[in-house]
Amino acid sequence: MQTHEIRERFTDHFVKAGHTAVPSASLILEDPDLLFVNAGMVPFKPYFLGQQNPPYPNGTATSIQKCVRTLDIEEVGVTTRHNTFFQMAGNFSFGAYFKEGAISHAWNLLTGSLADGGYGLDPERLWVTVYLDDDEAAEIWEKKIGVPAGRIQRLGMADNYWSMGVPGPCGPCSEIYYDRGPEHGEEGGPAVDDTRYLEIWNLVFMEKERGEGTGKDSFEIVGDLPKKNIDTGMGVERVAAILQGVDNVYETDLLRPVIDTAEQVTGAKYGAEHASDVRFRVIADHSRTGMMLILDGVTPSNEGRGYILRRLLRRIVRSARLLGATGETLERFMTVIMDTMTPSYPEIADSRERIIRVAVTEERAFLKTLESGTHRFDEAAAKTRDTGAKTFSGEEAFTLHDTYGFPIDLTLEMAAEAGLDVDVAGFEAAMGEQRARAKADNKAKKHGHADESVYREWVDNSPTQFVGFSELTADARVIGLVADGVSVTQAGAGDDVEVILDVSPMYAEAGGQLGDRGRIVTDGTVLDVTDVQKIGKRLWVHKATVLSGGLDLGQAVKVEVDPDWRHGATQAHTATHLVHAALRQVLGPTAVQAGSLNRPGYLRFDFNYTEQLTPAQLEEIALITNQAVDSNLAVNTIETSLEEAKKMGAMALFGENYGSEVRVVEIGGPFSIELCGGTHVGSSSQIGPVAVLGESSVGSGARRIEAYSGMDSFRHFSKEAALASGLAASLKSPTEELPERISQLTEKLKAAEKEIANLHRQQLAAQGGELLNQAVEAGKFTVLTHRLPDGVSGGDLRTVATDLRGRLAGKPGVVVLAAADGDKLPFIVGATKEAVELGVKSGDLVTLLSGYVDGRGGGKADMAQGSGANPAGLDAGFHAVREELAGR
Ligand code: SER
Repeated sequence: MQTHEIRERFTDHFVKAGHTAVPSASLILEDPDLLFVNAGMVPFKPYFLGQQNPPYPNGTATSIQKCVRTLDIEEVGVTTRHNTFFQMAGNFSFGAYFKEGAISHAWNLLTGSLADGGYGLDPERLWVTVYLDDDEAAEIWEKKIGVPAGRIQRLGMADNYWSMGVPGPCGPCSEIYYDRGPEHGEEGGPAVDDTRYLEIWNLVFMEKERGEGTGKDSFEIVGDLPKKNIDTGMGVERVAAILQGVDNVYETDLLRPVIDTAEQVTGAKYGAEHASDVRFRVIADHSRTGMMLILDGVTPSNEGRGYILRRLLRRIVRSARLLGATGETLERFMTVIMDTMTPSYPEIADSRERIIRVAVTEERAFLKTLESGTHRFDEAAAKTRDTGAKTFSGEEAFTLHDTYGFPIDLTLEMAAEAGLDVDVAGFEAAMGEQRARAKADNKAKKHGHADESVYREWVDNSPTQFVGFSELTADARVIGLVADGVSVTQAGAGDDVEVILDVSPMYAEAGGQLGDRGRIVTDGTVLDVTDVQKIGKRLWVHKATVLSGGLDLGQAVKVEVDPDWRHGATQAHTATHLVHAALRQVLGPTAVQAGSLNRPGYLRFDFNYTEQLTPAQLEEIALITNQAVDSNLAVNTIETSLEEAKKMGAMALFGENYGSEVRVVEIGGPFSIELCGGTHVGSSSQIGPVAVLGESSVGSGARRIEAYSGMDSFRHFSKEAALASGLAASLKSPTEELPERISQLTEKLKAAEKEIANLHRQQLAAQGGELLNQAVEAGKFTVLTHRLPDGVSGGDLRTVATDLRGRLAGKPGVVVLAAADGDKLPFIVGATKEAVELGVKSGDLVTLLSGYVDGRGGGKADMAQGSGANPAGLDAGFHAVREELAGR
């Protein structure tokens, strides 16, 4: 049974039982605890916690959620149960049915006949586990379902109590296992062998809330959830492996074609030996995960999600090379994995070109340095081993990272293959130093909220009410104060403090728009707000300095947005939408947004595109943008569902959750429709002119357009105009004729320089006769050593030396000339035919002279040139040359 059909049967089964089918959320949700969505329940978290009511008629839902887990990337393909990307099929009950419902739904689907829409698994092969004291679940399995007591096992918290690993919903669980048969391991059920007995479905009886703690089994249960809920997760890939009769999840219909392609590309054979099989499986697994991450908007970088993607793509490239590939491979892998995944994810079709471009750009960047980096690694590893050490240096690992783009994990893997450890502490120290340098360089950069635990209670229980779309001032209460990452109750004059308010009119940085600036005031107290950041999408954190007075927790305050700041940022934000729309008109839909920034008067917009824009394209983008301003297009904001928004044609970017309400910003009807939570002008002419400044590369297949908006555009244009008229006045030419005038002048200047150089040479040649008077007899030779005036170039030296040598023809003569040219001292030695016949080699004399002037050079016996760095040694050098010749 194809994976696509397994998915369909799952959804049908639960929809028939009254569940609402919910599409998979993006892999990227704004949850401070998660890099990627890693379980089917993640998008439903607020419903489990009772923070929001589930919008499903029967209080039940079903989904097949895209999941990524990347904790153990090194284990991929070594063990064969886990994929980094997998699809978790789940059914969810928010206070509707509980244990019995969950158990019978799962059992019926697994064991139901194929004709009835089930998976037709043999009930005799199914085992189940329950939590230690969960008699209720054990009894349901035995009495209601009829699973023999011998195939029901009880396991502890680590196996049968599920939580997200952080404070949140949790509960005991019951897992269903499939016995793959004695050839896969020992008898005795999942408690004994979880390779032979493969876990296929986890039913979580979500009824508790957990507190802080570590690991799977050492946390506190802080209380009951408002309702008894169900969260289940069936591993689609594992069920596919069973139903397709293949050995493991890397060989199902979705991934096997990548392995087949890898065989063609590399010439190696899958199944020949373990080490190469692991590489094939890495290629298959990572190609899919990489593709799905790019699909959801991740681009390779050195941090966070982008780093994971970079690491996955680079591991594919390296694995393919180790298997024998020589050229680029990612385009072929991406193409085949897109083919196998498109039936389940039709949206891939629109992104094929972009996905390939992102992957291939990364591959090219890596290939450029892979060989030299590997060479460097091998040398350093050999040196390490030669000295008898077992640890690869942290400094070296840092160089590989910094100069050759080797993720540290790649170095770790290569070191392990070479039988070495890596001094990770040393590596991190070097990284730390680099970061500190970068930080010092960029003081203005706001600090990341690395540890958000201090905000958690407010995020969960008292999010900020934002009123800033309609108001620029508001009355509010201080519900929290944080200083240096710690919750405090007071702030005094001069303190920097983060203020958390119940209500705020201040825009918190999001979607590229910087946070508002403004003031928080109360009797005798004024705080200057320099930034506003949003935590967990719900909590507004105002970064402020107390200018006078003091602030206490609980105090009533007035919050005032700086109206000029807001006006400017708003203009810039709407202008960004116009630039984005214009860009897509000019470059086509593959130019996908990769990031943006808007602050008063300035915007920048990053997008995925591999080629440099031509001046004509830029001009067209600027023209379309300003025409849109001039047309005074209406700007509408509409709150609707994501599905509706997509139907309207909104460019849905990553980070959006299906089912959720979204805000659509529409400018001039179809001209620009985007999902956006930012502030916008009422109609486009309020933006004022947009001055497009230019475009540049920002690495890895992305480019950046920068522009001014509003009065800053005016200032820019007027500065340019003043510059042009200033030039016109000094060049005595109308502005429109400036380009021609300047190119005429440049031509004239070039001609004049040439003329001067000619005159110079003539003058030097004319002096030749006089110079010859300074020649001295040194043994058998007539020798002229002379320093010419400063600024004579190497080329002119040669002309003069040739001339003088010609004048000495007929006798053994040697000419040595030098002239300082800036910091350098070019010099030349020429010898007549007669001198050469007596054994003089000009090259040797250049070497001799070099010793005195810190120089180097070389040439033939009759003429050789050099350049020195120390003119002070010249006289001694000349003397040495004369001595050398005299002694022959
Ligand atoms: N949340 C549980 C899991 O991830 C079941 O869906 O295993």
